[in-house]
Amino acid sequence: EEKKAADSAKVLRVGTEPVFAPFEFPKEGSKDLTGFDIELIEALGKKMGYKVEMVSMGFDALIPALNSNNIDVAIAGMTITDERKKVVDFTESYYTSGLMIMVRKDSNVKSIDDLKGKTIACQIGTTGENKSRTVEGAKVKAFNTQDEASLELKNGGADAVIGDAPVIEYYMTKAGKDFAKTVGERMEAEPYGIAVKKGSKLAGDLNKALAELKKSGEYDKLYTKWFGE
Ligand code: ARG
Repeated sequence: EEKKAADSAKVLRVGTEPVFAPFEFPKEGSKDLTGFDIELIEALGKKMGYKVEMVSMGFDALIPALNSNNIDVAIAGMTITDERKKVVDFTESYYTSGLMIMVRKDSNVKSIDDLKGKTIACQIGTTGENKSRTVEGAKVKAFNTQDEASLELKNGGADAVIGDAPVIEYYMTKAGKDFAKTVGERMEAEPYGIAVKKGSKLAGDLNKALAELKKSGEYDKLYTKWFGE
């Protein structure tokens, strides 16, 4: 019985952009992914009776991949925005994020207003790119990954990075601690959601599974594992 159930498990094709620790990133010395999003979607998939299959791609390729049926869901620290809601559906929010500014240690930038006319590095297709483009006179350099944006800051090709706070804060405990610092607080709250094709019943199923993980304490356990209390 058990064997039969496992064999016939439906596959859930999950798209992500996997250079986004602590949400999705490769396990040390392996191609397998780990992180909060990865463990969350694995737990949700299990609850729903799916075998989860991760598919990596560029962040800006995720929504097109949903709409061309190449993936079933996307989990990628993706902010629920009105613009995206026009083209895909989202689950309830599973994490509250917000943007943050990172600069080199010797910088005298104190706030986003100090970035006028400066060079800002960010990741393509993200809310960080949108925010960067609102800064008057700024030159915006958009990279495929958040790590490349951070490297540009390190190498002196940009004056600041604008990106998701939890990712920048994580980076500050690793490669960033030698050369970078953060500026101020998180900007306005950004809820992360799991994206599905418009009209897909997966959104409702995922919401139900998410509510169950919250009720059972499994969600809290994952949250604490990746973010502390
Ligand atoms: N939260 C931001 C957005 O939705 C950035 C997400 C980037 N995610 C990633 N896996 N690279 O635009």
